[in-house]
Amino acid sequence: MQVGLKVWRFDTKTAERALKEYEVDAPEEATLLDVLDLVKDKVDGSLAYRRSCRMMICGSCGMRMDGAAVLACKTRMYDVAQAGHVPVISAMGNLPVVKDLVVDMQPFWDKIRAVKPWVEPGYEAPAPGDKENVVSAEQMATIHKESLCILCGCCVSECNSMEANPDFLGPAALAKGMRFVGDARDGQTVERLEELSEPNGVWDCTRCYFCQERCPKGVDPRDAIAKLGAEAIREGIDRDMGAKHAKWFVKSAKTTGWLRETELVPKTQGVVRTLKDVKFGMKLAKHGKVPPPFPPHVAKDVDESRSLHDIVKKQDQRGAQGIVQGERALGRIEPHHDTYAAAAERGPYGPGSFPKPYLPGEEGEETT
Ligand code: SF4
Ligand code: SF4
Ligand code: FES
Repeated sequence: MQVGLKVWRFDTKTAERALKEYEVDAPEEATLLDVLDLVKDKVDGSLAYRRSCRMMICGSCGMRMDGAAVLACKTRMYDVAQAGHVPVISAMGNLPVVKDLVVDMQPFWDKIRAVKPWVEPGYEAPAPGDKENVVSAEQMATIHKESLCILCGCCVSECNSMEANPDFLGPAALAKGMRFVGDARDGQTVERLEELSEPNGVWDCTRCYFCQERCPKGVDPRDAIAKLGAEAIREGIDRDMGAKHAKWFVKSAKTTGWLRETELVPKTQGVVRTLKDVKFGMKLAKHGKVPPPFPPHVAKDVDESRSLHDIVKKQDQRGAQGIVQGERALGRIEPHHDTYAAAAERGPYGPGSFPKPYLPGEEGEETT
């Protein structure tokens, strides 16, 4: 099959960028990485990209195709070629480009290192002659998904929060943090949660879910971050405004089925800081954006909100060992509510479940 690619080239000597188009004859089973290999072998030996294993294990070949991070060795090109589409290939986002599709991974490694990605043993070594300490499969299941990470950086490439704040630890490091917070052998759980709850940590995630959508290994980094938040709150680590915001959000939804925004601000950032925002609040009030806090508005279907809260709470009561994502709770009540019929049709990861990543292309054009 004929496969075309447009590749963003970057010349380190001149710092110039150029979009170069290539076309090669490739076997039908070719992946994006195979096509790049063909381009490099037969057309332009100066093209730079990383790869090693070619089987989704080493994490080297992260790059963007049509603006969304992919592993090149996991991305089949047959459908793309059949559609006559010529995708744009570029380096991953949020990391400095070294050359063409190669990024500097040092900032990525610095953040992984910052979460202490090793076990700090929280157990006594068995006495000589005693049996070894055994960790059950059930205990390891808690961190099964987080253990699948191959450190490719695709999640980091797509992280909105990192784009705004390069100091944010980011999805890969936080998922790695959860991998050790949830490890039954570790003795530093609370210390880790304290550190991960500092500014630039757990609560700086905007919950955009792009990391989750793009992770090629099913690590689900946003879920890992949610688990860290749940564990931190369970341990009483709730100094951060994000934690306070989350707690009040839940309380407000449970009690009135409604987000009581007027109370949310002082509950989240404290009365003193809220007083500094009075001028801004007055402006909002002028436009009817500050509903009076009393009497609180109670939603008509507040019972539904309360039962949803109870279901999630039951699942979530063991923190990281529980399920902290509301979609599973929704899955359980779907059969009882006609209003969820449409959601039942589409499934949790089907069309419309999550926002699509930004893909340059024509309006409405399907690019993934
Ligand atoms: S969900 Fe959070 S960590 Fe993941 S990409 Fe969005 S902001 Fe980044
Ligand atoms: S969490 Fe997923 S996308 Fe992020 S580095 Fe690990 S494997 Fe790659
Ligand atoms: S080359 Fe190793 S993951 Fe793609």
